[in-house]
Amino acid sequence: VLLTGASSGIGEATARRLGSAGGTVALVARRVEELERVAGEVEARGGTASVHPCDLTDLDAVTAVAGDVLDAHGRVDVLVNNAGHSIRRAIRRSYDRIHDFERTMQLNYLGAVQLTLGVLPIMRAHQRGHIVNVSTYAVQGMIPRFAAYAASKAALDAFADCVAAEVRHDGVRFTTVHMPLVRTNMIAPTRVYAHLPAISPDRAAGIVCDAIVRRPHVVSSLEGTAMAVGNRLAPRGLSVAARNAVYRLTPD
Ligand SMILES: NC(=O)c1ccc[n+]([C@@H]2O[C@H](COP(=O)([O-])OP(=O)(O)OC[C@H]3O[C@@H](n4cnc5c(N)ncnc54)[C@H](OP(=O)(O)O)[C@@H]3O)[C@@H](O)[C@H]2O)c1
Repeated sequence: VLLTGASSGIGEATARRLGSAGGTVALVARRVEELERVAGEVEARGGTASVHPCDLTDLDAVTAVAGDVLDAHGRVDVLVNNAGHSIRRAIRRSYDRIHDFERTMQLNYLGAVQLTLGVLPIMRAHQRGHIVNVSTYAVQGMIPRFAAYAASKAALDAFADCVAAEVRHDGVRFTTVHMPLVRTNMIAPTRVYAHLPAISPDRAAGIVCDAIVRRPHVVSSLEGTAMAVGNRLAPRGLSVAARNAVYRLTPD
């Protein structure tokens, strides 16, 4: 399993679970000391781990890391595109911040696409493979203040959906996990999240690992599905008005 964002949060917890299952895990993120710590935990649980430090916004480095993992292991059965960067910022505070939109696209979309392009030919040649993208319920909810983040994840969702239809006959599957709120470092800076229900990183890792076993096309939480259905069924103006009320009632 090639797992990105393995140095903390959902990725770290997923690595641990994969270790307990006796998995062979290639761990990718920028912080090498953290990756080595996680690798130690994977091996202590009976798995096998290798460490591949990489900044996934550097697309040449992404190509190199895919090559390194394939050279070391011969194939990748599962790619989990989990590394990500979230930005919660109102558009009125973003007029001079095009870099917010560039950064989220670079990591959440282009980095994941480049890694997918790196492993897909081998997966198709082996007639077997699975790509799990850790997306977000923000895409289902189109939640205010998440324009940069939700757009980058929605782009990856669309990429996966199109490519899934091209590679299914080669035994390759894509899963998009619309992850709900998870209590990790990512949400720590946002004070309003302290009061909202959030699942643990271990529970989120359980969702990812269950997806690896069952290979569904989409995984959704109750709250994500409710938001998606609400946005789809409510007359468009009503959905925007409801989300505008949420925006005005919540702090930046
Ligand atoms: N937490 C939530 O509520 C929530 C909800 C829905 C979806 N998600 C998604 O879940 C995924 C994991 O997030 P998390 O909550 O576990 O957050 P996290 O603890 O902050 O983990 C983010 C991971 O991404 C890695 N990363 C960040 N920038 C990178 C880069 N340029 N190159 C390589 N790796 C990079 C980080 O490692 P380094 O810093 O070592 O590089 C870290 O391992 C993300 O895709 C996020 O969008 C999270």
